[in-house]
Amino acid sequence: MSNTIDRRHFLQLTSVGVGVAFASGLGFDVFAAGPTLTDTFGEDFYFVQLSDTHWGFKGSDKNPDAAGTLQKAVAAVNALEPPPDFVVFTGDLTHTTDDAQERRRRMAEFKAIVGGLKVKDIRFIPGEHDASLDKGLAYQEFFGPLQYRFQHKGIHFIALDNVSDPAAQLGIEQLAWLKAELAQLPPDAPIVIFTHRPLFALFAAWDWTTRDGQAALDLLMPYQNVVVFYGHIHQTHHHNTGHIQHHAATSLIFPLPAPGSVPKRAPIPWNSAKPYDGLGFRQIEAYPWHNYRLQEHPLAVTVAL
Ligand SMILES: [Fe+2]
Repeated sequence: MSNTIDRRHFLQLTSVGVGVAFASGLGFDVFAAGPTLTDTFGEDFYFVQLSDTHWGFKGSDKNPDAAGTLQKAVAAVNALEPPPDFVVFTGDLTHTTDDAQERRRRMAEFKAIVGGLKVKDIRFIPGEHDASLDKGLAYQEFFGPLQYRFQHKGIHFIALDNVSDPAAQLGIEQLAWLKAELAQLPPDAPIVIFTHRPLFALFAAWDWTTRDGQAALDLLMPYQNVVVFYGHIHQTHHHNTGHIQHHAATSLIFPLPAPGSVPKRAPIPWNSAKPYDGLGFRQIEAYPWHNYRLQEHPLAVTVAL
């Protein structure tokens, strides 16, 4: 892609309306986050979302290349031209273990591997595999705060932690923090949220929800341009709660079934006829008028190149 994508063409793509996803014919999905033709601040840029790498997972019937898939994703991101402004990992960096020492070993290995990314601005959020057994203690040693906010080219990014509490919730303190952070922003501020679990009740029986996620959505609702990128469900999924968009990303270890499509939430076995099928990462292009264009990068394609 180019950072100087033809704007007239892009506006044509987005003219179908707010919050509508469609295939442009170019392999992209386009999501218009708001009526923003008059906005001029910020530059075009893109970032990359990777999720659910589960470093340390073992299970050859699920992924016989569990020790090499993350490196392939790193190589694929490094091949992107121009490079992304930054990369975000939306949780489950490591696979869970009861052994605190082993947890740290996995985190150290993960960090060393992603240190091979050419882009050095790397953001992390925890998944329940990383953080639920020790309330995020080891995670914070390696990756920093569990929740934070940063700005990039006019967009406000807010990372939320809905995993370190074993009750699968954000909690009263974090909600108060979110409220205080949002109070500093005008209603038309472009806001991007990173979480691991979905903030809405996608499929609660499979733990695909956040117990107090609705409280966060209530706080976000007055803001006109809010998009949530999350992981956890190991597949792409697009959903709106009101005008707020929610986009789940694929995993980089094994895919999971569609919500409620089978009795049990179990990894989809490796398909030797289609290696790496269902695995991949996502490119998110952000435009000054608060539109986002999502491009999925299936690992099966990038590995074959
Ligand atoms: Fe996961």
